[in-house]
Amino acid sequence: MRILSGIQPSGSLHLGNYFGMMKRMVDYQEHSELFCFIVNYHALTSVFDSDFLRRQTYGAVCDFLALGLDPEKSVFWVQGDVPEVTELTWLLSNVTGMGILERSHSYKDKTAKGIPASHGLFAYPVLMAADILLYGADKVPVGKDQKQHLEIARDIAIRFNNTYGDTFVVPEPDIEEDFATVPGVDGQKMSKSYGNAIEIFADEKSIREKIMRIKTDSTPVDQPKPLKDNILYDLYSLFLDERDRAALKERFLNPGLRYGDLKKELVGVIWEYFTPYRNERQRLERDRQYVIDIMREGARKARQAAAVYLDRARHNVGLDYWY
Ligand code: TYM
Repeated sequence: MRILSGIQPSGSLHLGNYFGMMKRMVDYQEHSELFCFIVNYHALTSVFDSDFLRRQTYGAVCDFLALGLDPEKSVFWVQGDVPEVTELTWLLSNVTGMGILERSHSYKDKTAKGIPASHGLFAYPVLMAADILLYGADKVPVGKDQKQHLEIARDIAIRFNNTYGDTFVVPEPDIEEDFATVPGVDGQKMSKSYGNAIEIFADEKSIREKIMRIKTDSTPVDQPKPLKDNILYDLYSLFLDERDRAALKERFLNPGLRYGDLKKELVGVIWEYFTPYRNERQRLERDRQYVIDIMREGARKARQAAAVYLDRARHNVGLDYWY
């Protein structure tokens, strides 16, 4: 079983990224063949500051390594180090209908938020399909916001196979109900661009400020608290196993819970959860040569795997005129 997923270095990574994708990827590497990458070509659709992009890409690499991605067990690379993916994007473009891209929610959302409506942004799902098909991925762990992108990737794989003969694996999305949409502090989906994210490696003060900003309902202390759409409950639950989650539920359902106390408690829980990773991240941030060597080796392995599918696709469309 080949498992693959990517993450954009367009801003600092947050709890939604961690629980929706990163933690699940790290867990998968113990018993699957894992392919994981930082998608800097995709980030070019919204980031136009080259220094910022370099910094964020390096930062995202350090985040993933610190959080437990093991480059000995998995293939871990930066998308732009394997430019073959842009060639495959072109081959896929010719079996991608305009209609399917025109219906993309993410394109509409991003342009509505002021990201320039470029061809790159419009073709974003085709590059993402190439990311997945180039490595023959069976399963793609993502949050719910990527569901439509996965449907487009499947559609493109099927159309390509129908047009040119069996070439690609048709991938399956892997969305985990409990972590499908982690809410931000304002109750909307947590996102790098909504100003509502709790960053994984934020300092304690800014975590506290964000958590204190969460709006709570006005149920009196001596009454049970609602669980539905309760941001505090949803965020706290992320850090708990099944037993502790049941205990938290009890606290909500029994009178006496004070939201203010619970907020302070949650700040401590978040801070402590990431403390060991934080120390490792600081070490990696300083050890640039070590990190760059890891990524170079990752790109070499990714390139090797990519060659299998790219050669097959080039042959099946007829680019090898000497054949
Ligand atoms: P990106 O960088 O926006 O997010 C990375 C991963 O984090 C998940 N995620 C969330 N999950 C739950 N709750 C949230 N609030 C939340 N916010 C983000 C995302 O669903 C995603 O899984 N287009 C992709 C990157 C990409 C990709 C790929 C993914 C490019 N090529 C190939 C898989 C396979 C993106 O922008 O993710």
